[in-house]
Amino acid sequence: MKLLIEKDYTSLSKKGAEIIAEFVRKKPECVLGLATGSTPLGIYEELIRQHRLGGNAGLDFSKVTTFNLDEYCGLEESNPQSYHYYMRENFFNHVNVRPENINIPNGNSADPHQECIRYEAALEASGGVDLQLLGLGPNGHIGFNEPDEHLILDTHVVGLSQETIEANSRFFVSAEQVPRAAITMGIGSIMKAKKILLVVNGKGKADIVRKIMEERSISPKIPASILHVHPDATILLDSESASALERN
Ligand code: F6R
Repeated sequence: MKLLIEKDYTSLSKKGAEIIAEFVRKKPECVLGLATGSTPLGIYEELIRQHRLGGNAGLDFSKVTTFNLDEYCGLEESNPQSYHYYMRENFFNHVNVRPENINIPNGNSADPHQECIRYEAALEASGGVDLQLLGLGPNGHIGFNEPDEHLILDTHVVGLSQETIEANSRFFVSAEQVPRAAITMGIGSIMKAKKILLVVNGKGKADIVRKIMEERSISPKIPASILHVHPDATILLDSESASALERN
């Protein structure tokens, strides 16, 4: 896994956006895998800024297809905590991705398991994700693939771990309001992406980053550790999340 370290959140966001923008400019009809959470907010801001440059300089998303990693079960799309809402507010409302090219799991499907099968088939039919943006849970999760005895390959319904409920409760009034289940792309769906960009910031992730980068083993107890065997994965850190690395 290629390692990039930036000074702070601003330069990390600029670097992440630069990698994505360069990719979109080279392959305008690409398939982007997108993440929510606090980490990519700065990247989305910078991509929006680049889109707004206008004319030939403006970053054009009109041919881009997107697939989001995950969505909570049981939240309306209009709920400000849903990932549908997040993506509209923080990205899609401000760029020119065509609505018909946007894919986010439907967490309100009457048959969530069928929804997972549909989503995985849509991923396949798109030709697969070209560039997948990922954040990292403090417990090492990617998407909502939580630490477990084994990792599930395809898009699936998952019960959220207590750690994730607590970590995500910062976005809700209380931990009780955090949904207990979500639909997430599986580890296989993520690993099929041709290129992966894992972005991590803040002191709170320094320990999990150290475990992933220095223990150099793959374990379902740290789902992101599987990225070591991806042929084109990059981990992009700020100096705080890199602070526990031996050689930093
Ligand atoms: C979000 C997602 C999660 C987050 C992770 C980090 O779509 O799949 O894996 O990327 O929980 O979240 P933040 O960035 O809020 O620390």
